[in-house]
Amino acid sequence: YHVLLNNSLSSIKMLAILMIAYQWALIFCDLIHLIVMTNWLMLVSFYRMYFSVEMKSVAGNIALVTGAGHGIGKELAIQLSRLGAKVVCCDINKDWNDRTVDAIKGEAGHAWGYHCDVSNRDNVKEVMQMIRQEIGDIDLLFNNAGIMPCKPFLKHPPREIENLFAVNVLSHFWTLQEWLPVFMERGTGHVIALSSVAGLMGTSNLVPYCASKHAVRGLMEGLKEELRYDDRFPDIKLTCVYPFVVDTGLARKPRMRFPSFTPITSPERAAEIIIEGMRRNQYMISIPTKDFYLVKIVNILPLAIQHAVSDFLEAEVDEHE
Ligand SMILES: NC(=O)c1ccc[n+]([C@@H]2O[C@H](COP(=O)([O-])OP(=O)(O)OC[C@H]3O[C@@H](n4cnc5c(N)ncnc54)[C@H](O)[C@@H]3O)[C@@H](O)[C@H]2O)c1
Repeated sequence: YHVLLNNSLSSIKMLAILMIAYQWALIFCDLIHLIVMTNWLMLVSFYRMYFSVEMKSVAGNIALVTGAGHGIGKELAIQLSRLGAKVVCCDINKDWNDRTVDAIKGEAGHAWGYHCDVSNRDNVKEVMQMIRQEIGDIDLLFNNAGIMPCKPFLKHPPREIENLFAVNVLSHFWTLQEWLPVFMERGTGHVIALSSVAGLMGTSNLVPYCASKHAVRGLMEGLKEELRYDDRFPDIKLTCVYPFVVDTGLARKPRMRFPSFTPITSPERAAEIIIEGMRRNQYMISIPTKDFYLVKIVNILPLAIQHAVSDFLEAEVDEHE
């Protein structure tokens, strides 16, 4: 009996050792695979810095742009139409929106205007359903509308903060809830969200705005991971945009010590960069491009150094109404 027991115990021990060895071998193989993949993907990334992915065509696509009445949204709508897309313009300001639609029609493009308050969930649902019935399913969703009250944190009334989050953040959820199921059913679609450099770092006088743009980044990051783990949707693309200052009047009092290093971009150029990046299926677009890397590098440095760099660059926004 004892011999039998001893034999069984040593067999179990042996099995346990083999199991552990197998698990370590598996981890080792995965690690080698990770190292080889990382090196290969680094090479591909370097190659892509000089030989970009070909731009996809948007001709015949239906593009929906929120906040199409002014600034970046207006330019996006006009330039998309010039590339042959049919554009659905949504804005809370009917006059501005109509002007964008007229500008597109004046160039023989296809555009429709919908008055929509993107911060209002019921209104978004109603307007998006109307668009589906009257025009059809969209291919490109530009979540662009945004506001930016600019003052010290304690001067923001609570209603203003709630409204800011409704316009800058919740609106993305409401449009996505309407269109993502359509994209998933069809297997294709592209969502482009406007965050900001303020979504990568903090800026004084913009505390709620910074929080809202960090939230947009978080939303897109989460969605990216969820779609990545579901291999049914390789052709649903996401793009998150991080502009610095674009000359639209949103940031009325930008202050910068080195304007040539951190230049103000025109809305025309910003839209051009966004559309080009979107057509290359880039996940992240920063305007100007170097800003993203600069912020990323500075963010890993000790806090005191981050402050010193920030003080040196003096890139801030002064309080304005
Ligand atoms: N301009 C910049 O310097 C800058 C920098 C970084 C990020 N961004 C982001 O880019 C986006 C566009 O900014 P912009 O400078 O073109 O702004 P803008 O003020 O020029 O235009 C915004 C448009 O959104 C519309 N809008 C506002 N609230 C709305 C609502 N509730 N429903 C529907 N439409 C609404 C406005 O009527 C306007 O037509 C925003 O999300 C903004 O946060 C801008």
